[in-house]
Amino acid sequence: MTDHVSRRRFLQATAASVATSSLAVGAPSAKAPFPASFAVHTGRVRSPVAVASENGKLAVQIAVEKMIAGYAPVDAAVAGVTVVEDDPLDDSVGLGGLPNEEGVVELDACVMDGPSGLAGAVGALQNIQNPAQVALKIMRHTDHVMLVGEGALRFAKSYGFPEVNLLTEPSRQKWLEWRERRGTLDKWIHPDENTVGGKEWFTQWKHKTGTIHLGAVNATGDVGSCTSTSGLAFKIPGRVGDSPIIGSGNYCDNDIGTGGGTGRGEANIIANGGAFIVQQMALGITPTDACMAAVRRVVRLTKQKRLLDDKGRPSFQIKFYAINKAGQIGSAGMYADSYARCDENGAVLADLASLYHEKIK
Ligand code: GLY
Repeated sequence: MTDHVSRRRFLQATAASVATSSLAVGAPSAKAPFPASFAVHTGRVRSPVAVASENGKLAVQIAVEKMIAGYAPVDAAVAGVTVVEDDPLDDSVGLGGLPNEEGVVELDACVMDGPSGLAGAVGALQNIQNPAQVALKIMRHTDHVMLVGEGALRFAKSYGFPEVNLLTEPSRQKWLEWRERRGTLDKWIHPDENTVGGKEWFTQWKHKTGTIHLGAVNATGDVGSCTSTSGLAFKIPGRVGDSPIIGSGNYCDNDIGTGGGTGRGEANIIANGGAFIVQQMALGITPTDACMAAVRRVVRLTKQKRLLDDKGRPSFQIKFYAINKAGQIGSAGMYADSYARCDENGAVLADLASLYHEKIK
């Protein structure tokens, strides 16, 4: 099947699956293989599908289970992302995220709903563990798209989100170490300064970002998507990346599909990766090729020498993810890596297509 199918043909192909979609699965089981009831659905013409960044294997499974249970794709995407936000071991999202340079965790997130064409987003939100759920509330209960900082916090609290300290002890230790090693012009001194390679250690944090993007398409071809992050490690307070920017870290169009990105947010804000990918797919390009076109766009738009390696290539990672309305999944990155996907065969990590074939630190 080509990526670009007519709506009529698509609906014919999925009619059988819609008829069985009320056979809902039970509550998703943490890190369990696909529930047996999912197999009931694998006989359908096609199941709901989801794509996510590498840290989203469980999240895509949950999103697909939720769509089978009748959740809208955007709600299924948020349900999947919530599990990653709640995971203290993922230091790039929600609880346990690496903090800003003052040691405060600041979160960005957004959601987009294909059928309504609505979106919601939060930027630089502190002390709230599930920013994607707050973004969903903004989308559903206000005429705005984005709230930031103190206003976003007050909004979240008005809906009963509890304030929590998101800085876990391992993330606090990384922040303390970063602060002591970051330079020679400040007054912080690391005890091992003269024996351990401070510069080398510091370099690994230069572009350290992590994020989850999750795109979801249900059995009738409705789409929804979500992105959530703690952003660039040790950022300047108030820095907002691509993740909550509709059109950059996340985009979906119910006639076409979903697109989103993770990696260096400054590059993706300029490239408008999410919207660009969706527009590429509207031209009939496959999801993977659309993601690769976005990678090439980032390369073309990266002109500053300080962002290039000695071969003239961008010295940072950026990765894109897409699903078209027909349920075809794709992903591509600047450098080799993997991504998470879930279809009727269950959730797996797979290699993404990469412009440069080596891995980047
Ligand atoms: N892509 C995540 C960020 O740069 O904040």
